[in-house]
Amino acid sequence: MASARGFTLWFTGLSGAGKSTLAEEISRRLHDGGVGHEILDGDVVRTNLSKGLGFSREDRDTNILRIGFVAELLTRHEIPVITAAISPFRTTREEVRRNIGKDRFIEVYVEASLDELVRRDVKGLYAKALHGEIKNFTGVSDPYEAPTDPQISVNSETQSVEESADVIWNYLLANEFITVEQAVLQG
Ligand code: ADX
Repeated sequence: MASARGFTLWFTGLSGAGKSTLAEEISRRLHDGGVGHEILDGDVVRTNLSKGLGFSREDRDTNILRIGFVAELLTRHEIPVITAAISPFRTTREEVRRNIGKDRFIEVYVEASLDELVRRDVKGLYAKALHGEIKNFTGVSDPYEAPTDPQISVNSETQSVEESADVIWNYLLANEFITVEQAVLQG
């Protein structure tokens, strides 16, 4: 595996907006470019590192700070990290940004309207949340604070996965997080 400069690509956005899908696509490209890295996905982290945590503000913050802590350790040792958690609170994301260092923290806002997410409802959770069967559901009955100044912003309603991944990939290349050689290897 070729060495890379450590960075954390921090996806944020509502459930179902496409964070994990994009994380997987960037992961595939890094892999094809020979860049070792790790993914920290909210859904996965909640089955181990954050097992037992719920969705109160306190539990969400604990979850995010844990993900941020692991990301910080890896990033510090030049291992690129991709995270995919809703991370709904701005101040918590800012805390993680400070801990990792703003020159290595790349916030990616994955946008999609609530109408579209309710239409997609891949996991069937929006229907339940709208019927009051799930409480404190982000975007329905719990807040989501959109980034005000993200490094990258993509929209899964108007852009394909490929197009959004290209925007992210070009950012990594332009800011020398990956090299031209690593970038061209991916297919
Ligand atoms: S975060 O708020 O702590 O960042 P995280 O990304 O780990 O959330 O987990 C979100 C996932 O948990 C959603 O994609 C969804 O599948 C599930 N989930 C279950 N209950 C809720 C809820 N009340 N709000 C948001 N997501 C929930």
